[in-house]
Amino acid sequence: MIKPLRKAVLPVAGLGTRFLPATKATAKEMLPVVDKPLIQYAVEEARAAGIEQFCMVTGRGKTALVEHFDIAFELEATLRERNKVEALALLEGTQSEPGSIVTVRQQVPLGLGHAIWCARAFIGDDPFAILLPDDLVLADTPCLRQLADAYRDTGGNVVAVTEVPREHTNRYGILQIGKDDGRLVEVKGLVEKPAPKDAPSNLSIIGRYVLMPEVIGHLAKMERGAGNEVQLTDGMAKLIGNQPFHGLRFEGRRFDCGDKIGFLEAQIAFALKRPDLADAVRAFLKTYM
Ligand code: UTP
Repeated sequence: MIKPLRKAVLPVAGLGTRFLPATKATAKEMLPVVDKPLIQYAVEEARAAGIEQFCMVTGRGKTALVEHFDIAFELEATLRERNKVEALALLEGTQSEPGSIVTVRQQVPLGLGHAIWCARAFIGDDPFAILLPDDLVLADTPCLRQLADAYRDTGGNVVAVTEVPREHTNRYGILQIGKDDGRLVEVKGLVEKPAPKDAPSNLSIIGRYVLMPEVIGHLAKMERGAGNEVQLTDGMAKLIGNQPFHGLRFEGRRFDCGDKIGFLEAQIAFALKRPDLADAVRAFLKTYM
């Protein structure tokens, strides 16, 4: 029997150095794309995939991420008193079931694999999703929903993948590919940040995963990988051969919002999707061309 997917881990303990000084006192995941913080896009995408329980792996200076999903009593009371119905409605996506979001602390950012291991008590024996909020996906069917569907079909680990230019393989986790039907790819191996000449393909993992709980046992060994960090990719690689492991070429466009250019591009792409903004954005863009 395939266990239902109900849990998601949101690792948000990184330092966000590429966005200093903005991230000196604010979490990178609170940066907005148009008018919504990255963390809220991730939570809404997860909910749309049937996720009910969330674990944020946080670090210092990340309290706003938790506050964002709490009731802001004074704000809401003031808006109600002033009859600001539309403004109140904008807060809807920030509401959460009591007890549905827990946090664990990763005191030292030792790497993504270490961050996931910090959520081990939350994960228990269940399959779980991971969403990296700085990867934003614009898609008709939310990206994690696509992965959850593939998980139901394959019954094992599924990661979202996309082609990257060969000269960029040293920025990502890269797949060694087995059978490939054009959409679903059998994963034969995984390498974190290989040099272009050593990369087994140019198919890269993006920040959406559905993983089996056995990955925690491998991460617990705390082996250091690329960049002397505990790499999630290395832990996942140990599952291959023992459990089904697939890459899914998801439908949609991914924006790497942990990077300035990706972040700026996401602002434009998401604004152009908004009926209240698209015309004005198109008009001002023309003046810069
Ligand atoms: P990044 O590689 O983007 O690192 O992490 P970062 O620290 O957030 O940003 P830069 O590179 O310094 O600008 C990818 C994801 O993994 C989380 C981050 O919060 C982000 O969601 N992460 C990374 C952790 O939670 N802990 C870590 O030790 C490392």
